[in-house]
Amino acid sequence: MILLTNNREDSPVDLLPEIERLKQELNAVVLAHYYQTDEIQDVADFIGDSLDLSRKAAETDADVIVFCGVHFMAETAKVLSPQKTVLLPDLQAGCSLADSAPPEEFKAFVDAHPDHLVVNYVNTSAAVKALSDYCVTSSNAVKLVSGLPSDKPIIFGPDKFLGDWVMRETGRDLLLWQGSCEVHEMFSEQKIAEMKAEHPAAKVLVHPECPLPVRALGDVIGSTRILLEAVQNGDANGEYIVVTEPGIIHKMKQAAPEAIFHMAPAEIAGSEDGSCTSCNTCPHMRRNTLEKLYLCMKNQTPEIHLDPAIIERARLPIERMLQVG
Ligand code: 13P
Ligand code: SF4
Repeated sequence: MILLTNNREDSPVDLLPEIERLKQELNAVVLAHYYQTDEIQDVADFIGDSLDLSRKAAETDADVIVFCGVHFMAETAKVLSPQKTVLLPDLQAGCSLADSAPPEEFKAFVDAHPDHLVVNYVNTSAAVKALSDYCVTSSNAVKLVSGLPSDKPIIFGPDKFLGDWVMRETGRDLLLWQGSCEVHEMFSEQKIAEMKAEHPAAKVLVHPECPLPVRALGDVIGSTRILLEAVQNGDANGEYIVVTEPGIIHKMKQAAPEAIFHMAPAEIAGSEDGSCTSCNTCPHMRRNTLEKLYLCMKNQTPEIHLDPAIIERARLPIERMLQVG
């Protein structure tokens, strides 16, 4: 039993049955990203990577989408289902990548290169998506960019590391916006190499938001779903070094209870041994809690609202993203 005690109600609230009751009452679906806390993942109706969550948001027949993820994900759900109520447990749950591309600055960049196609990672605000020809996630960026006309120059934003990965995988020359994820850029190449030497049988699973020297150590590089699938399809007694946000370990452990998982540390200048095992946790994703999930369903706020003109313009690049597997 998980109780909410610091509330204004007379008696403590038992959160799990209350969330289930509110799902029925509101005809709500709870979507959660793999980077959410274990308890949020356990109460969610669907857990996925950015692409799968967008697909679920597009096809659900629920009246209310409760998005346990970050702001840009909830915005994407709102663009795809503008008639639905989209709730985000904590409105401050942002993303350093999305923040690295302010719409006015990104528009100036696009205007300066009018002959370029504009491809943006889904980790962008709806206003930046509205300036894009295509959106991609780390699941389908390589496939989508490979299929673009070879005579067209391409802007790719906002993640310079993901963009570099796509460039190398596709052989296309991309004009990169210089954004990065504050979590994935911190992983320590040196510490991962040491871990690898200590655990030579371990497979290294790396998210493509990491810089090249870290990606170079990876056996599997891909979105959170691809990394999870590597465990699901791997040896039940396997060993893994996981180089992404540790929330994903919850599902990995369920898929392979006997497997061994090592969380890759981040590099922190000034810390005792130069590393930090909790700095790889996304502070934005972790703003959502079970209590905030319950309260947002109970009060039906915070809700995502978007300018209808932005919804109109952001829809096509997102729909193009959904068409690529
Ligand atoms: P994916 O779940 O698409 O791999 O994205 C990771 C991420 O950083 C989400 O913000
Ligand atoms: Fe954004 Fe990085 Fe957090 Fe993902 S892990 S939400 S890219 S800050």
